Amino acid sequence: MPILCRKGVYMSDFLTLGIESSCDETSASVVRDGREILSNIISSQINTHKKYGGVVPEIASRMHLEAINAIIKEAIDEAGVKADAIDLLAVTKGPGLVGALLVGISAAKALSLALNKPMIGVNHMEGHICANYLAYQDLRPPFIGLVVSGGHTYLCEVKDFVEYEVIGRTRDDAAGESFDKVARSLGLGYPGGPEIEKAARKGKHTIDFPKSMMEKGNYEFSFSGLKTAVLNYLNTEKMAKREIIIEDLARSFQDTVVETLSFKTFNLLEEKNMNKLVLSGGVAANSALREKFEIEAKNRGINLYFPPLSLCTDNASMIASAGYYRYMNGARDDAYLKVYPNLEL
Ligand code: KG4
Ligand code: ZN
Repeated sequence: MPILCRKGVYMSDFLTLGIESSCDETSASVVRDGREILSNIISSQINTHKKYGGVVPEIASRMHLEAINAIIKEAIDEAGVKADAIDLLAVTKGPGLVGALLVGISAAKALSLALNKPMIGVNHMEGHICANYLAYQDLRPPFIGLVVSGGHTYLCEVKDFVEYEVIGRTRDDAAGESFDKVARSLGLGYPGGPEIEKAARKGKHTIDFPKSMMEKGNYEFSFSGLKTAVLNYLNTEKMAKREIIIEDLARSFQDTVVETLSFKTFNLLEEKNMNKLVLSGGVAANSALREKFEIEAKNRGINLYFPPLSLCTDNASMIASAGYYRYMNGARDDAYLKVYPNLEL
């Protein structure tokens, strides 16, 4: 193993064990050199939370606690390595649910002490971006990143592996949150994104919903006005006893979100004169969004990257990748690492 490590020079054959427990997925993964997934075990709690229409934090923490040791063991076994061959533990430190995050962090601390290996806390949103390094072996910054998850929406310039400049973020609801809230108001299940996408496939864009902050040069997002417009539409139609076509409503809503995201993102690429765009986060799994961005990117000569579906939503491989790059750039944590439920990018 090369010992040399300074900015830009990375150790090879370096194994990172990633641990993710920020929301409703318990996940552990072994990743080689920040790029190659040797295992990626995910235990989803979605079926439990579905009954309540959203994630119940107390239940999430308990379920992480029950699952985490077995998931970590499975990730190490499936990778075909011995625990003491792990070089680094990378764990999500935030943002997320405080109790859920604590489970992952405590497991990482225990392993770090037991194996005498370094550990590093990772920003979950940075992890989402790094999911792309696992899918595209040659991808390197600089690029423009659009991160669209359940709790956050970021438009940023990724200058280097650990250097980000956030250019726009949401003022209120995140993109994924708006999918979840609108799905709930339509009586569709949790999580709302895939349900809206399914309904929208059968629908037509028949309703004009408002788009927020669309002036050129404005890279902030706001999706709560759109959510309210959907609710108002539902109430008005119900009062007038008109038929509501859920599929058309879902399609109109989805198009509005996708068009807003695409408009701002491609404007930014133009303004910065950049031609590389990287999508990430759960909403990047949306096929209408992928199609729209593919068309726009092709028309404008932009190189577009997005992870496979399995790496869009929460997983520990992306945390291992982000941890690897942080560690190789000199970041270190120890047993005093805390959780940061409201951590920003
Ligand atoms: O990134 P993620 O797995 O977790 C967070 O870090 O929040 O994102 C989850 C979010 C949820 O809001 C979910 O509704 C949304 O991603 N999502 C989708 C799709 N799949 C997941 N939104 C739109 N279309 C999808 N196919
Ligand atoms: Zn996430």
